[in-house]
Amino acid sequence: MSRTLKVAVIGTGGISRTHMPGWSASPHTEVVAASDVYEPAVVKFGEDFNIGRVTTRAEEIIGDPDIDIVDICTPNMYHGELAIAALNAGKHVICEKPLAPTPAEIRRMIEARDRSGKLLMTAQHFRFRGSSKAMKAEIGTGVLGDIYHARSWMLRRYIAPTRPGFILKEHSGGGPTIDIGVHILDLTLWFMGNPEPVSVTGVARAELAHQPGMFTAWAGGNLIPPEYDVEDFAAAFVRFANGATLMLEVSWLLHHDTPGEDMQMWLYGTRAGCHWPKCEVYESNLATRQQYNKTLKLTADTMEPHALECVEFAQAIVDGAPSPVPAEQSLQVMTILDGIYRSQQTGGEVRL
Ligand SMILES: NC(=O)c1ccc[n+]([C@@H]2O[C@H](COP(=O)([O-])OP(=O)(O)OC[C@H]3O[C@@H](n4cnc5c(N)ncnc54)[C@H](O)[C@@H]3O)[C@@H](O)[C@H]2O)c1
Repeated sequence: MSRTLKVAVIGTGGISRTHMPGWSASPHTEVVAASDVYEPAVVKFGEDFNIGRVTTRAEEIIGDPDIDIVDICTPNMYHGELAIAALNAGKHVICEKPLAPTPAEIRRMIEARDRSGKLLMTAQHFRFRGSSKAMKAEIGTGVLGDIYHARSWMLRRYIAPTRPGFILKEHSGGGPTIDIGVHILDLTLWFMGNPEPVSVTGVARAELAHQPGMFTAWAGGNLIPPEYDVEDFAAAFVRFANGATLMLEVSWLLHHDTPGEDMQMWLYGTRAGCHWPKCEVYESNLATRQQYNKTLKLTADTMEPHALECVEFAQAIVDGAPSPVPAEQSLQVMTILDGIYRSQQTGGEVRL
């Protein structure tokens, strides 16, 4: 049976490969084309996934009326231009995170989406983990009461990427703040019900990256390249219109106790608190003065989240449903992250 939606992948590096099992698993999609500015990468991708049509010219596949979905997996700075071109050509667009590295560009993408009537989704794969879905559903029961504070971090002990697409601002738009901060902040705001942010105080600095001999465990161990020009650490305090607050910490290179990556979140509400990814809820009974913890029952994930996000995106298109990750929520995330960079420059609180 022919599948209804034809997919073209643009940017055939590391992350694009994690989307492919999703396009295969969906009953609605087949990948028919791929593009990358680096010819050997797209040729190899075509061979590995048996894709008949590969090209170094993205505009060829964006202009093809037979393509229904464009899957953008390029470095951050190229997301906006490619997504707007694809939406203008009448394609649905799923785009890797961050949707774009500035709020202004995301607004332009949303305008293009609204003109086209197509779906635009950010590939925030952490939302598609079973533990995230379970925590979101639990919070949705109102168990926490009003959430008035959150604490989140995504900290890596000496795991900085070294590819230009991540460590050069001209390609990435920023360092860990927008590379991994975008993950934990998106998840935190989603759990909080996406309250409207109103101000941020933050720092975003390179504290370790330029020390002589500084290294990363990324890809087997390398020196940090001297051309590295983004921050390696950020911290922020965010206020929301509903009175809630958030403390956020992000780093690729830190003298941290936990080896590898440490990603955690606590939410504090008027009735209970919770932790993700432990998926625990902390409650009390005021009448009996007892405190107790509840651990959510999770079932094993049957599909990797990078794949599941593609399956759910295709299903939303077929069902005529909204994007599973609304671009407006990605705009909110980037407004805060951009505010951290602006606060670093001004040295004070920034109104959003
Ligand atoms: N969700 C996640 O877990 C996750 C993980 C890693 C990366 N990412 C995101 O995915 C994107 C790509 O990251 P990656 O790790 O695959 O990088 P990568 O460097 O492995 O691959 C990027 C590819 O894009 C190509 N490219 C560059 N500019 C292009 C353009 N204008 N048109 C077409 N192709 C172009 C490069 O030649 C390269 O092959 C980034 O936005 C990154 O933030 C997401």
